[in-house]
Amino acid sequence: MKALVYYSMNGNTEFASGKISEITGAKLIKIEPEKAYPNKGMRKFLKGGRDAIRQKTPKLLPYEFDASLYDEIIFGFPVWASNVTPPIRSFIDENMDAIKSKTVAAFVCCSGGGAEKTLNSLKEYLGLDSFKAELILLDPKDKPKDSDIESIKAFCEKL
Ligand SMILES: Cc1cc2nc3c(=O)[nH]c(=O)nc-3n(C[C@H](O)[C@H](O)[C@H](O)COP(=O)(O)O)c2cc1C
Repeated sequence: MKALVYYSMNGNTEFASGKISEITGAKLIKIEPEKAYPNKGMRKFLKGGRDAIRQKTPKLLPYEFDASLYDEIIFGFPVWASNVTPPIRSFIDENMDAIKSKTVAAFVCCSGGGAEKTLNSLKEYLGLDSFKAELILLDPKDKPKDSDIESIKAFCEKL
């Protein structure tokens, strides 16, 4: 069984996670920091971007994740300052041993650039050379395109 562990500030990653879960049956596990990131104005980019660059690991709200139920983990999150979104690093820190024994795939949402660097940074954090599958989407909720669904389907076929 697959778990899709995701963080989404503005709904794009959540939208894509829903589609991926519909296709694969992956269990959705939404993670959120105890202290929400500012989601408006300049602070939205300053605080989140700075924490992402500094590889911060904020405390998370409680979530349900029984690692023994899953053989595959899919991570989904927005690119922040060409880096991994901090709550995802927190989740990894809390579950590193369990994650090491699973197959891992990842997708990211972004509005333009830095996604490759972000996926590489996640691989490095997990000590992996590659993911089973990876996908980059450009704001799939805010700027939907027909090709998004095709890319999501192709990603799911590899899982
Ligand atoms: C703090 C912050 C930093 C961001 N940095 C980048 C970036 O480096 N490259 C990029 O293409 N988009 C960047 N974005 C845009 C988001 O990655 C993009 O809009 C994404 O689809 C949002 O996903 P969400 O709706 O699930 O939060 C940034 C957004 C925020 C809030």
